[in-house]
Amino acid sequence: MITQTYLSELFSLDGRVALVTGGSSGIGRAIAGALARAGASVVIVARKEAELAATVDELTADGCRAAWVSGDLSTREGVRAAADEAARTFGEPDILVNCAGVNLRPPMGELGEDVWDTTMALNLEAPFLLGQRFGPGMAERGFGRIIHITSQQAHRAFVRSGAYGVSKGALESLARSQAEAWSPHGVTCNTLVPGFVMTPLNTQLSSDPEKVAALAARTLIGRNGLAEDFAGAAVFLAGPASAYVTGQSIFVDGGFSVH
Ligand SMILES: NC(=O)c1ccc[n+]([C@@H]2O[C@H](COP(=O)([O-])OP(=O)(O)OC[C@H]3O[C@@H](n4cnc5c(N)ncnc54)[C@H](OP(=O)(O)O)[C@@H]3O)[C@@H](O)[C@H]2O)c1
Repeated sequence: MITQTYLSELFSLDGRVALVTGGSSGIGRAIAGALARAGASVVIVARKEAELAATVDELTADGCRAAWVSGDLSTREGVRAAADEAARTFGEPDILVNCAGVNLRPPMGELGEDVWDTTMALNLEAPFLLGQRFGPGMAERGFGRIIHITSQQAHRAFVRSGAYGVSKGALESLARSQAEAWSPHGVTCNTLVPGFVMTPLNTQLSSDPEKVAALAARTLIGRNGLAEDFAGAAVFLAGPASAYVTGQSIFVDGGFSVH
């Protein structure tokens, strides 16, 4: 079938290995599922074993190839150990998705060094270290895809952006540096930029119906994001079709950023 072949040439991830941090919940879980269903062998990394196992069970029940590694990505040793274990599972990854993140929101005047350090370690340093660990190998093999998940707070202050907005702004800069280094060798590096997405990260905000409605009204589509909204964009950025897209920040936000 010509349609099937055409779509496969553009989007199939058959034979690829993907590592998705934060792949056990919210946006990361949806992205891990999308990459696995598009043909990749997917390893997800997070801390809580029950959520990791439930995600992998769901994917394997669907006939996908998936595995999990439990690790704390907020320390350098944790990142190294998780990366090594993940790479032992299906081999060195062709696709790296950095989705694990925290959003701690003390008022700016009360933002202490502990919150700053935790935020930078998980949201910025782990993606940097994983890039250093896997980027050169991707470049050597002539194919790679690095996808970071940032935030509209990389672009504007929003509800106590504090350290979080800084970490996400820097992550978009990191994507451009990685793109500069490795794009000539077939490794594209991009970020997906969510607006407000209904996930466990946002329990406090999303349990307030008035705030949820006000945020939905700020989009052009008229609703807040769902984790599944990231599936198609992730498959695109992970696959052959996006070979000429690099160093970009792609907003998946229902038009929030242009309203
Ligand atoms: N939801 C939104 O509105 C929104 C908006 C903009 C950007 N984002 C970004 O999107 C990404 C995913 O957010 P989400 O809303 O999907 O959040 P989520 O549902 O809370 O998922 C966070 C994931 O990160 C993992 N994680 C947290 N701390 C970790 C650590 N120290 N080591 C390893 N893994 C860790 C969690 O698993 P464990 O707890 O088991 O470790 C979980 O899998 C984040 O980078 C976030 O900043 C979200």
